[in-house]
Amino acid sequence: MRLAVIGCGYVGLVSGSCLAEAGHEVIATDNDGARIATLQAGKIPIYEPNLDKVLDRVVRERRLRFTADCTEAVREADVIFICVGTPPTESGEADLSAIDSVARMIAQESRTPKLVIEKSTVPAQTGEELKRALQVYAKNSGARFRVASNPEFLREGTAVDDFFHPDRVVIGVEEKETEQELRELYRPILEGRFRCPVHKPSCPAAAPEFVVTTIASAELIKHASNSFLGLKISYANVLADLCERLGGNVDEVTRAVGLDPRIGGQFLKAGLGFGGYCLPKDIQAFIKLADRAGIDFGLLKEAERINKQRVDRLIEKVKKALWVMKGKQIGILGIAFKPNTDDIRLAPAIEVIRRLLAEGANVRATDPEAMERARAVFPNLIYSADPLDVARGADALLVLTEWEQFRKLDWKRIHDEMARPLVLDARNMLHPAMMRELGFEYMSFGRPDTVAVMAGH
Ligand SMILES: NC(=O)c1ccc[n+]([C@@H]2O[C@H](COP(=O)([O-])OP(=O)(O)OC[C@H]3O[C@@H](n4cnc5c(N)ncnc54)[C@H](O)[C@@H]3O)[C@@H](O)[C@H]2O)c1
Repeated sequence: MRLAVIGCGYVGLVSGSCLAEAGHEVIATDNDGARIATLQAGKIPIYEPNLDKVLDRVVRERRLRFTADCTEAVREADVIFICVGTPPTESGEADLSAIDSVARMIAQESRTPKLVIEKSTVPAQTGEELKRALQVYAKNSGARFRVASNPEFLREGTAVDDFFHPDRVVIGVEEKETEQELRELYRPILEGRFRCPVHKPSCPAAAPEFVVTTIASAELIKHASNSFLGLKISYANVLADLCERLGGNVDEVTRAVGLDPRIGGQFLKAGLGFGGYCLPKDIQAFIKLADRAGIDFGLLKEAERINKQRVDRLIEKVKKALWVMKGKQIGILGIAFKPNTDDIRLAPAIEVIRRLLAEGANVRATDPEAMERARAVFPNLIYSADPLDVARGADALLVLTEWEQFRKLDWKRIHDEMARPLVLDARNMLHPAMMRELGFEYMSFGRPDTVAVMAGH
């Protein structure tokens, strides 16, 4: 089976590489010529753990190759994965223009039958539109199109592991033939027949479930999953606000609540809220989709509102602690929307930095992987790879991404370098007792603060 992957972003690169590792011949393309040139030169334009190992191998073994000519990829392939971006529009709906343009290109360039698969996250009923576009723009009588949905659940930071060891592979299909073809395509992954770059010597035993649905259901499953995760985070964040008022500790509360298997502890985590290229935009798009269908998804609207307020809550805390922000030096630990990625799209840290700058604060920032991307957004910030430089002389340090490296910092040294040893931990990643012992003023979300003890008290 010859596969084409259109769109070499996080999803396209990981899917293409892993499917090549699983034994398929893959041609990957993108309309960003510079990106393809980077890939052809053996460099990877994104940071994603383990991707380099898989990519190097499959390129060397000629199972994956890149072309800047999207039409070549289409003509050569039997199965085409659409992995282009579906960013939010101004109104919050998914912008499907890239999907539309790829659909027209496939229709016009195809000379042989194609199975066209939506892997990008799209609203329900996109499959119908895709089918229509392929039919009405088709130029050649040899072209016959089948459409399927195969939503992707990988998470940045663990994307390769997730692709090889998914909880489930969901396919939305209309024909038995398509179901069989996709089952065959995923068989090496379902049966664990690939060289896993993550687990040595052996991979987790549980095989993923292969879930076959209609196309509309598959599209809904992806939006429904991400939206539910957002709900959990917002729920934990309201619990954090309650704990602050009532004197509880949100970590104790969410831990015990999450031990109930009906609830589960994952994503029941208070902090600065969710960001990135999936949850915020997918929730927005799901709300809009429901609105258009005449369903008021008030539950999700509330989760989204709560999430947006997290940055307000943090800024309130910073203002309260610093009194005047103008002229204060504030250090930022973490810009990426989560650890182990360089992705800053819709990262809460971006909004936090924007607000601090608007208040006249002097901001210095560090992030293990995301500084280059942040420089494009805030070219005038002072960046340093060394967190100590960011802490030196600072009036406050804000922890905005829970990189493991930050947990392991020499916090005693940081304490000594700061003008005022004040840490606002927006990810609840440090231990309050440790920070208290080191003499910090320490604040987080939904846990008791350690405040400054005035001399003479
Ligand atoms: N990033 C994630 O963690 C993740 C996880 C699951 C699903 N998704 C979904 O997968 C899709 C892709 O996400 P991503 O993070 O990989 O996006 P991305 O922005 O990193 O990559 C998209 C790529 O598509 C290319 N592209 C855009 N229009 C094109 C066109 N007309 N022809 C060819 N190439 C084109 C872009 O140049 C870019 O390289 C989105 O719908 C997203 O919601 C993302």
